[in-house]
Amino acid sequence: MQAQSLILRQPDDWHTHLRDGEMLRAVVGHSARQFARAIVMPNLRPPITTIAAARSYRDRIQAAAGDHGFTPLMTAYLSDDIDADEIARGFAQGVFTACKLYPANATTNAEHGVTAIASIHRVLERMQTIGMPLLIHGEVTEPDVDIFDREAVFIERVLTPLLRDFPALKVVLEHITSDDAVQFVSAATANVAATITPHHLALSRNALFAGGLRPHLYCLPVLKRERHRLSLRRAATSGNPKFFLGTDSAPHARGDKESACGCAGIFNAPMALESYASVFEQESALAKLEGFASEFGPRFYGLPLNTRQVRLRRAAQTVPDQIIDGTIELVPFHAGETLGWRFEGLVDA
Ligand code: DOR
Ligand code: ZN
Repeated sequence: MQAQSLILRQPDDWHTHLRDGEMLRAVVGHSARQFARAIVMPNLRPPITTIAAARSYRDRIQAAAGDHGFTPLMTAYLSDDIDADEIARGFAQGVFTACKLYPANATTNAEHGVTAIASIHRVLERMQTIGMPLLIHGEVTEPDVDIFDREAVFIERVLTPLLRDFPALKVVLEHITSDDAVQFVSAATANVAATITPHHLALSRNALFAGGLRPHLYCLPVLKRERHRLSLRRAATSGNPKFFLGTDSAPHARGDKESACGCAGIFNAPMALESYASVFEQESALAKLEGFASEFGPRFYGLPLNTRQVRLRRAAQTVPDQIIDGTIELVPFHAGETLGWRFEGLVDA
């Protein structure tokens, strides 16, 4: 008999975008309902580069999240002129959990990102010494590199030399999209891990053009060929602790997605666990979901495992076509589709 419900140690989201202001208030509850903690991306305008900015952003997130018991884990946005002392102090004070490396102009609000790894050598050295994780958006930005090859080329040209220079640096290659990344991370030392999103597990690049252009499925790194998706599914469901959950939920208002120059990002927070559970079930690997969602991430970061539990029930659930909050209109991942699982919330102790 098929299990009718699934009880898991409460998961964390090791990569998400919560934005700020009205958008923060519209989206944070969706993450806080399912996840105990989340690694919060710093690509605001202006980006989060100081302890003071991170503290005040953390306060705004907590105020907006209400009483879910949700803990935002803050990250610092690396730029060419980032202050290594500020980063180290923020880590020591427990304000910064990690640093985020955006290659300049690689994605949304990445224009202040790093132009060359050489310019942040001192910071990376310091991070390696103090055990502070580096979270990487792994794509090169050279316009002559085909967009579907940017992750593989980043691994070859940037990540391989970086790990040669800093072999003990804790590195998370974020939102991996290719078999090249799966192979690289699998073969790397234990200080190198990767997050995998629901959308890269569910879809290949064909989905972007199914019956017409699908702006709500556009994200960066862009969806890849089917063989890459299959490799990601094998990695996520393998039980290898180097691969763990990071949604990369990245909300943009409907009008900014349905535009002549649409923003990159998929808002998957509302059905994140249901989406992952569907993939693990399709792969006959539901027993592997808890490790991926709730155990491998905290172990990599050296944080305690959550003690609360959550329940998912086997029940058809149709995802709304849109989510409206005040003046903000969002189209969630899986809009209009029916998923086979429903997140029910915390299991009473
Ligand atoms: O699709 C994406 N959206 N990829 C990113 O790397 C950034 C994110 C965003 O902030 O919108
Ligand atoms: Zn992201």
